[in-house]
Amino acid sequence: MSEAPARVVWRNEFSLGIPAVDHEHREMVALINEIFVRIEADDTETIADDLGEIHARISAHFALEEQIMRREGYDQFDDHKADHEHLLDDIREIMDAYADGSYGDRKDAFAGRLQRWFVDHFKTKDARLHRRLRT
Ligand SMILES: [Fe+2]
Ligand SMILES: [Fe+2]
Repeated sequence: MSEAPARVVWRNEFSLGIPAVDHEHREMVALINEIFVRIEADDTETIADDLGEIHARISAHFALEEQIMRREGYDQFDDHKADHEHLLDDIREIMDAYADGSYGDRKDAFAGRLQRWFVDHFKTKDARLHRRLRT
């Protein structure tokens, strides 16, 4: 059974109200959706490069968010940072699994994992940070 993976649809609640962070969130959503298109099309040649780019961009993005949290004295800094580290490990694992072919004919699982990875962090950790910064 093979269904097209659900795309990550941008929602206003993803906005933190900090232009630099929101811009990067939008860029990451665009990048992840590009990967989904390539997965669906079995255009596997560029996926490894795209994952490398996501990893690099997300590392920079997390650094920016952590800088803001530190500056604002955010109460759940440690917890949020730990989730960032966990997510970076997870994307590394996805890259490794991709490289050694273990996602070969499990592309739905692969796409689903990427999607959860993005949406869950946005909806939980980043959303809380967003509410905190606005109050
Ligand atoms: Fe975050
Ligand atoms: Fe974020």
